[in-house]
Amino acid sequence: MTLLSVTGLSKRFPSRRGLVDVLRRMPRQAVHAVEQVSLDVMRGETLGIVGESGCGKSTLARCLVRLHEPDGGSVSFDGTDVLALEGDARRRFNRQVQMVFQDPYGSLNPRMTVGDTLGEALAVHRVVPAAEISARVRSLLDLVHLPQDAALRYPHEFSGGQRQRIGIARALAVEPSLIIADEPVSALDVSVQASIVNLFMELQDRLGLTLMFITHDLRLVKHMTHRVAVMYLGRIVEIGPTAELFARPQHPYTQALIRAVPLVKARRRDGEAAVMGELPSPLNPPSGCAFHPRCPRAEPACAEAVPDLTDRGAGWQVACRRA
Ligand SMILES: Nc1ncnc2c1ncn2[C@@H]1O[C@H](COP(=O)(O)OP(=O)(O)O)[C@@H](O)[C@H]1O
Ligand SMILES: [Mg+2]
Repeated sequence: MTLLSVTGLSKRFPSRRGLVDVLRRMPRQAVHAVEQVSLDVMRGETLGIVGESGCGKSTLARCLVRLHEPDGGSVSFDGTDVLALEGDARRRFNRQVQMVFQDPYGSLNPRMTVGDTLGEALAVHRVVPAAEISARVRSLLDLVHLPQDAALRYPHEFSGGQRQRIGIARALAVEPSLIIADEPVSALDVSVQASIVNLFMELQDRLGLTLMFITHDLRLVKHMTHRVAVMYLGRIVEIGPTAELFARPQHPYTQALIRAVPLVKARRRDGEAAVMGELPSPLNPPSGCAFHPRCPRAEPACAEAVPDLTDRGAGWQVACRRA
């Protein structure tokens, strides 16, 4: 059953112009951060969103929770129109959909103990009666495998991995049905990344959570997601069941990403998958299929029309005329 349904979502940002542009009366341009994204998230699934940095993953996530207002398209959650929500209904939605960010430190109050931070989330949303808050804080710490005395300590006393566990506990406190995790392990050491990925898998399984896991690191989604969506310059170019997509990627970009994986470690310290050439600017995206200038299989027609994301059966969709 579909929990979240996104149709034709687009978000553009006005670009900053330098003095020279202003003096030359250059027209103000727009960054095409998210273009015509459509996807469904099924209840209880983990959906991976992958793509190089700058391809619009965070903007998509922020539009879904209305941290950005999209310019076009629609978002429906459990059958209701998210973009039309106001007042109490919007607050209920904000509770239902929680985000986990790359750097939980930035969003944890350094002067509040972990127990108070979790307790506040429980109290603000009246998740449990006041008398039960401390017991619930203890069970949240348990859920993310932090020791009970963590409740009395402050964020700076924890390691990066432990802080991410606190961020996850806070997201779980309000009993959301969807968690959108935006690069939740990208700031962590590789050795710690696996433990947080495992925690997400365990929670998803135990709590029946629906999870959107956003990352630039293709390797992370291989074992933890049911489906993967690959983004390129604001658009989804391929989406499908994870195992099949890794075994037989259809889009030349997905193929390049997957092939690049073994080369990546040697070449790039940050572990980001590198394809040949640079990501073009979202200010002036290439015509037609935005990947055509880097695509080994491009033909002249690829520069003309944006290929539709078309069904290839079994919930697999690809936007490529050459696939
Ligand atoms: N608030 C903003 N104002 C202007 N441009 C933005 C803003 N947020 C993101 N962008 C631009 O939108 C594009 C997509 O960014 P983002 O969604 O952060 O990508 P990702 O999360 O995949 O790295 C980038 O070109 C980025 O510079
Ligand atoms: Mg991002």
